[in-house]
Amino acid sequence: MLAVIGGSGLYRIDQLEEVQEVRITTPFGEPSSPILIGKLRGKRVAFLARHGLNHQYSPSFVPYRANLWALKEIGANRVLSISAVGAINERFRPGDFVIIDDFLDFTKGREDTFYQGAYSLDVPGDDKPAELLKNKKVVHVDMSEAYCPQMRRCLMDVLEELKLSYHPSGVYACTEGPRFETPAEIRAIKILGGDVVGMTGYPEVALARELAMCYASLCVVANPAAGIAKYRLTSDEVISLMKSKEEEIKLILKLFVERLEDQRTCNCHRALEGAEV
Ligand code: HPA
Repeated sequence: MLAVIGGSGLYRIDQLEEVQEVRITTPFGEPSSPILIGKLRGKRVAFLARHGLNHQYSPSFVPYRANLWALKEIGANRVLSISAVGAINERFRPGDFVIIDDFLDFTKGREDTFYQGAYSLDVPGDDKPAELLKNKKVVHVDMSEAYCPQMRRCLMDVLEELKLSYHPSGVYACTEGPRFETPAEIRAIKILGGDVVGMTGYPEVALARELAMCYASLCVVANPAAGIAKYRLTSDEVISLMKSKEEEIKLILKLFVERLEDQRTCNCHRALEGAEV
């Protein structure tokens, strides 16, 4: 099953039919919001609001581990994240979509692994992640291809078909927030290879990989990043840009769900093979 995680400005998917609200707790705490499970184009799809239904979780305090664990528990094996970003690459314009293909992590000490070795939590269940946790294993997952190539290909096909303005690749730099970056920080990130900047893409992508889930990130450029914009940045600008993209996001989701083959042809499901020490 595919799960969609909605970022700022995206708190539900209206097109879901036969919706069931699932409240689930995990060994890593409560997820950000109840999970909605419904049907889209006849396929089961789950939805989770990353910041909570009232946008009560700031980027540093989003329960990323609980969110991913809860999605795994309800049977999701693929995650599509949809979030707003600031553009660093000058070719990227407000309103453009970006299909992320790599990331830079500038967060500060977020809980970014399930596998804490001697300090691992005891969890119920007998799947591979539960077994690794019970056996207090240290696990190093590969991040050479952090974003699922099969999901990315499908997103490209869908955006092409809808004739939307998009970039097939881009490096996502994740900052700690909640403040926006300084112009000097953006210049530094640009030198390091970042194309867009956001505050929530990490550790979600790494945690999904630790659960051998497929993960893709579709970003919407909401603003030019600090210093590139010649004006002050506001949350209002980010939210109103996301609202203006609602209809396009709906179309993308519908077509994406329809086009994504049920069979996973990528290697994401093999993430835990050879990863434990
Ligand atoms: N910086 C960080 N996060 C963001 C931005 C930004 O400029 N725009 C939307 N999310």
